Amino acid sequence: MLEIRPNLYSVGVQDPGLRVFDIIMNTPNGSTYNAYLLVGSEKSALVETVKVGFCEAYFKQVEAIKPFSEIDYLIVNHTEPDHAGTIPLLLKKNPDITIVGTNSAITFVTSIIKGPFKSRVVKQGDTLDLGDRELSFHPMPNLHWPDTMFTFDPVNKTLFTCDFFGAHYAFPDLLLSRMADQKEYIASRKEYFLDIMSPFSRPFAANGLKRAQELAPEVICTGHGPIIDTGLQELYAQYASLTLPEQHEGKRAAIVYVSAYGYTAQLAETIAKALKEKGVEVSLLDPKDVSTREIMQALQGADGILFGSPTILGKQLQPIDEIVDMLYPFMMKGKLASAFGSYGWSGEAVPNLMDRLGHLKAKTMEGFRVRFRPGEEELQQAYAFGQAFADAL
Ligand code: FEO
Repeated sequence: MLEIRPNLYSVGVQDPGLRVFDIIMNTPNGSTYNAYLLVGSEKSALVETVKVGFCEAYFKQVEAIKPFSEIDYLIVNHTEPDHAGTIPLLLKKNPDITIVGTNSAITFVTSIIKGPFKSRVVKQGDTLDLGDRELSFHPMPNLHWPDTMFTFDPVNKTLFTCDFFGAHYAFPDLLLSRMADQKEYIASRKEYFLDIMSPFSRPFAANGLKRAQELAPEVICTGHGPIIDTGLQELYAQYASLTLPEQHEGKRAAIVYVSAYGYTAQLAETIAKALKEKGVEVSLLDPKDVSTREIMQALQGADGILFGSPTILGKQLQPIDEIVDMLYPFMMKGKLASAFGSYGWSGEAVPNLMDRLGHLKAKTMEGFRVRFRPGEEELQQAYAFGQAFADAL
């Protein structure tokens, strides 16, 4: 059992075999579901639970330190089920535990527990007295869910950040100071940020970084990956670079397309040419050649988004469908979007895509389609479509 700092224990679990997290994120290094137990002189508090399926190991570790009947609080910094999934089973062991979290967290926990439980909603600066220490709470909405908060233990100078500063990186030695070669982990921490935090807007993450630096912890206890007990300045520098507002002049457009016989590719290239000649910076992305992560980054940074797909069997092609599935209204708000493509029979791909872009709350511009091979006239129309898109940006 690892005592990280006096009376602060690691009670989380390793999941080295995990290869895909949340159905979409590749995790070649596995992951961990970190949880902690703080034993104060008067009261004891758990910080997070673990993913369902790992609860027995979690319970065993907690009970090796304290029986559940002597645990007073469960602090929930974030309620995604990889951290909060075990709460209903935990309450079976001790229904008197008070769950502490932000208003959103308690609302979400209510929907996980689906029954009565004791709770305390906390706001910025609220504290929890454990006898020899007073924990403070720092709501950090949208890191990466609206429920998120940090918890700070001023005695141990330890900050609990759940997903923030995390990494999907199994490490049975637990403490980062025990990792001889950190290169792979540091790269994985960056990928984690790009996949988990960055889609929810960098300013929130910049705010989280600022708050962590203000609290000046000596140890950061994250929800995934090693406990960060060394290299805090390197961590802050990495996050500072990741959270910098992107500087670019003019407008940017991302064109994501697939092409079965080169016809939709011709349209994509012609539209890209028109946009460039209007001074728009263009990324032309074919999912066959570019990773999903790169495409998502380009889409996040773009002012305008275009999807190109032929119609096959009455719909757009799967690689485009998969990318559109990953978009969400918060990300698309304020962006201009449209679709184009070549078709043979009925041409549903473009109207389908337009419909989905509308549901994602993008500003849409009427789509453009061409039957079979674009001839000279259709390429001129595609060029005009690209120019109109640039003008609308
Ligand atoms: Fe690790 Fe957002 O859950």
